[in-house]
Amino acid sequence: MSINLIILAAGQGSRMNSDRPKVLHEIAGAPLLVHAMKSGAALEPARTVIVSGVGADAVEAAALAHDPSVLTARQSEQNGTGHAVLCAREAMQGATGDAIVLYGDTPFITPETLAAMQAARTYSDVVVLGFDVHDPTVRYGRLVTTGDALDKIVEFKDATEAERAIPLCNSGVICAEASTLFSLLDDVGNDNASGEYYLTDIVGIARTRGLTASVVKCDEAETLGINTKAELAGAEAQFQTRARAAAQADGVTLIAPETVFFAHDTVIGRDSIVEQNVVFAPGVSIESDVRIRAFSHLEGCHVSRGGIVGPYARLRPGTELAEDARIGNFVEVKNATIAEGAKVNHLSYIGDAELGARTNVGAGTITCNYDGFFKHRTVVGEDAFIGSNTMLVAPVTVGDNALTASGSVITEDVPADALALARGKQTNKAGLAKRLKDKLRAAKAALKKDQ
Ligand code: UD1
Ligand code: MG
Repeated sequence: MSINLIILAAGQGSRMNSDRPKVLHEIAGAPLLVHAMKSGAALEPARTVIVSGVGADAVEAAALAHDPSVLTARQSEQNGTGHAVLCAREAMQGATGDAIVLYGDTPFITPETLAAMQAARTYSDVVVLGFDVHDPTVRYGRLVTTGDALDKIVEFKDATEAERAIPLCNSGVICAEASTLFSLLDDVGNDNASGEYYLTDIVGIARTRGLTASVVKCDEAETLGINTKAELAGAEAQFQTRARAAAQADGVTLIAPETVFFAHDTVIGRDSIVEQNVVFAPGVSIESDVRIRAFSHLEGCHVSRGGIVGPYARLRPGTELAEDARIGNFVEVKNATIAEGAKVNHLSYIGDAELGARTNVGAGTITCNYDGFFKHRTVVGEDAFIGSNTMLVAPVTVGDNALTASGSVITEDVPADALALARGKQTNKAGLAKRLKDKLRAAKAALKKDQ
């Protein structure tokens, strides 16, 4: 049985107090919407439809950037969750099998939970994801059941006191055969406390049609929806706690786990060590036996086995470190390939560059890659030695085994095996320092006498 996803992401999210649509606020470097899409993608859906409304252009762009195969639908007025799902009808035309509705602001639903819902469809026409909250004042919809059967969902606003006392709440995630879902929605009205078309009404309607409905349960933490900046920060903290535990379970050593921050897609191999205060932005993959030393920031890069990075290193997008490469303190690398065993250990900027195997780059070296209009490449061969404080003015190539003298400004290609010297020639004036100092000392003494 194939499955399709409908992700509701049209709401305003006014409590975020932001110009940005709610679902585009980020956890672990990815929009809430992308987290929801990633949860749903575990089901390998035949089709995914994103329903957007507020900030639709930006929401669609973010969805398509993550997965160009998704379909988009618009809900121009937010008339409720039921109305939002109906807006996906055209995009779902011809889709077969089930449809599962997710919320774009609910990032943590696990693949296991979605699989359990899919499994429950074998004995139930409509499956709703619920969770227990023992607090009659929380404003979730309540699931009214008789034994295992789900009779209806009552929205908090419309619920009686007795219904509000029911601990079983609605997460919002609902699964049914796609054609059944839309047929049920055709009968949903808006005669309720909010004047909205509630998706939740399909359960009661299904039951009056003689269809079956049931509940799959999960933890409240999984269905956490984000409504405020404070909740966003809380969700980030939850994500980080889980990511740290997952890395440790995968065999990564975290010396101070609470100080390491992961992105939604960080991959780290077994027996790698991450020291204190390291931040992984999106797009980082690290092989086994790597050491990321304290206070480093990595984004969009790959570090091969045996590499050592930091302390205080910054790896920016497009950085590729081959095996046993070393990037030391206060070194920034961007869009550069550092071959096996090459070292850039101190105070350097290496951008738009290629460094050959075993090449050593001295302290303070900079690839001058940008002329204010265009970026240019620097290519350094194997076993080269770049003297400290070399300016490599790109485009420029330094051959295998070549050497540049410290303080050189290299503007022309250096052939293999050559020594490039490109700095002012030194001259020593014998005794001049002493004579100059004596003169200045005397002048200062004369000035003091006059005062
Ligand atoms: C909804 C459920 C409630 C459940 C709760 C869980 C309904 C009627 N109620 O209530 O039973 O306990 O979620 O969090 O479904 N959206 C649209 N278009 C709309 C309205 C909403 O796209 O016209 C989207 C929102 O962007 C959001 C999601 O649907 O992602 C839920 O909407 P929200 O307004 O938060 O519903 P609740 O009132 O919380
Ligand atoms: Mg809500």
